[in-house]
This record gives sequence, C-alpha cells and structure tokens, in this order.
Amino acid sequence: MSVIVPTFNERDNVEVLFAQLDAALAGIAWEAIFVDDNSPDGTAEAVRAMGARDARARCIRRVGRRGLAGACIEGMLAAQAPVVAVIDADLQHDASVLQTMLEHVQAGADLVVASRYTEGGSACGFDHQRRGWLSRTANALARGLLAVTTTDPMSGFFMIRRNAVEELAPNLSRHGFKILLDILATSKGRLRSVDVPFAFGVRQAGESKLDNRVLLDFGALLASKWIGAGLSPRFLCFAAVGTLGLLLHLVALRAALAAGVGFTNAQAIATVCAMTSNFAMNNALTYRDRRVRGWRVFPALATFYLICGAGAVANVGVAGWVFWSGSRWWVAGIAGSLIGAVWNYAMSNVLVWGASE
Ligand code: GDD
Ligand code: MN
Repeated sequence: MSVIVPTFNERDNVEVLFAQLDAALAGIAWEAIFVDDNSPDGTAEAVRAMGARDARARCIRRVGRRGLAGACIEGMLAAQAPVVAVIDADLQHDASVLQTMLEHVQAGADLVVASRYTEGGSACGFDHQRRGWLSRTANALARGLLAVTTTDPMSGFFMIRRNAVEELAPNLSRHGFKILLDILATSKGRLRSVDVPFAFGVRQAGESKLDNRVLLDFGALLASKWIGAGLSPRFLCFAAVGTLGLLLHLVALRAALAAGVGFTNAQAIATVCAMTSNFAMNNALTYRDRRVRGWRVFPALATFYLICGAGAVANVGVAGWVFWSGSRWWVAGIAGSLIGAVWNYAMSNVLVWGASE
C-alpha cells in the first residue's frame, strides 16, 4: 500500500506520522509518499532525511505549485502499490484505522472513507465551533445535491484502488481541497464505497491552511459538478465575480448620476470601477494560486482593461446581431453577455494570469 501525505509546512509532524504509520501497518508492505509544495519550513528536507534511513519514506517536491487536491492526485499517480491511501500530515487522522480500511478493500471495496460522521466517528478536533458547523453544512449540501452516499464526502482521509484513480484522474480538478468529493462526483456512483468511523483529532504542530476561500472552491466545485456540463470551477468563479461587478456598475452609475455627472461620463466611470473591482476580485479569488503581486499589478490591470474593452465590443456586437435577427431582447442580452464573459475569461486566463493549462 502507498500512503500519500500532502504536506505544506509540516516539518515537525512528518517524523511522528511516519512512526505512527510504521506501528499501524505492521505486517503490511507499505511506503509513504510525501507530496510537498516546496514548504519554506524545510518539510521536504525532513522527509529526505527519513528516506535516507528508511527507503519507505519518499518525497515528491513540487516547485512553483500549490494545492492540496493536485498534490494528492500527483502522489496517488506516482504510487506503485495497487492500493493508495491519503492522510493528512498533521496527525489529525488516526493512522491505526488504516488496517481496517485495507480489510474493506481486500473484501472488495473500491473506496473506503474514514468518516467523522458515521456511528463511532467524531469531529471534536475542530478548533472552532464554526468549522464544525461549516463542515456539517457543506456535507449536507454535497450529499443532497450530488446524491453522494458516504457520510463524510469532505473527509481528507480515504483509501482507494489505484486503477480507479488512474481512470478518474483526467477529470479531477487539481484546485481546492475537496479531492474526495470530486472523486465521488466524477465517478458518478460507480465506486463501491464503504465508511469506517474515526475520531478527527487535534492538529499537532503548525497551522491549518483551510481558510474561507476554500469554501469558495467548494461552492464552485459543487456548482460545476451539479450543472454537470464540464464547466470549470474557475470559470464559474470568474462568472460570479462578473455578476458582482455588474451590480457594482449599477451602484456606481446611480451614484455618479446623482452627483450630477452626465450619462456618458457616468457610464464610463462606472465601467472603470466595475473592471477594476473585477480585476481585484479575480486576482484575489479566481486566480489566487497565480496571483499577480507588486508592481506587476499595473501592466496586468491595463491588459485586463483592454481585454474587457474588446469583450464589451464582442458582447454588444453579438447581442445586436441576435436581436436584429428576430430574438427577444433578453435572449439577445444573455447571448451577448455570455460571449463577452467567455471571451474575457479565455483571454485574461492566458494574458493576465498566464495559464499553462
Ligand atoms: N502539498 C500540499 N499543498 N499540501 C497541503 C496544501 C498544499 O497547498 N495545503 C494543505 N496541505 C496539507 C497540510 O500540510 C496537511 O497535511 C493536509 O494537507 C491538510 O491540511 P490542513 O491545513 O491541516 O487542513 P484542515 O485540517 O483544516 O482540513 C482537513 O479537514 C477537512 C475536513 O473538514 C483536511 O483533511 C481536509 O482535506 C478536509 O476536507
Ligand atoms: Mn489539519
């Protein structure tokens, strides 16, 4: 079995986790693959030092990339064993459950989820009440919308047959935290899955990387899987930002008109306000993993203005064409906006936030 351990700044935990795995997996052939996103605290070096003593500790050091889901996928695909498990490095996941999980796989399960919410499991390791509440709500949403059957689709602790991962990998999102939910949604119920209870513990050292923006990821993933049209979570986020921008535009326009500015100038002011705020929100949210920083913000913003300007021309052009060819006004309006949004997204994805994908 290959145990995948995503790490970011977990130097003080990896050694303890490795010892726990050793104790928990006595009698089983196993290896641990730590996937480290070039942690500044020297986690990768700590793993390498263990590997020098014990070849079962391997390290994938990723440079210039961040993301829990992507790290897990990469680790699972690098595994040699037919069965892989994913476990957090911070000791919140109880390694002694791995034996039971493996027994379920040997008995025919494709996926075993270590669940906090099944009979016998618990989640008292959440530092805040709020986190516990959020987790349960997200859970209920995911189960309701996606007809997922496990009791804990948000768990970061699970075991799966590697060939299932190989098959799903091209369709999994590398962004965000919700790797298990993604696996469940993408496999559309084809995996035989079993839940095993475990007690979610208290983080040992270091700090949690799950902040509120992770929720945004979650919402976007849920929406994209729900719509099921293969829309990328990133595009949905971009579109949501654009919708907010439109509201801001109207507010700014109203304010400028109220201040006595003529309509054309007021519209121009509102447009600049909306584009600037869209840029800022996309930079902070949609593209936070490739955020533009420092003085580079200025050329990026200028490029964004140009792209949106062209997008507006395309939007108006298409809307006019649809309208004059006999469609209703709102059909024309939506068609134009969609074309504009896709254009803005496709262009700024490459030219502003330099996509390599
Ligand atoms: N390689 C890599 N890259 N690892 C990461 C990254 C990243 O960008 N972000 C976090 N990790 C690692 C951490 O080092 C840790 O080992 C593990 O992923 C979980 O991160 P935490 O920051 O400790 O997450 P959490 O405890 O708040 O959230 C846990 O519970 C959630 C359930 O509510 C995780 O298990 C989540 O996966 C789970 O959804
Ligand atoms: Mn944690």
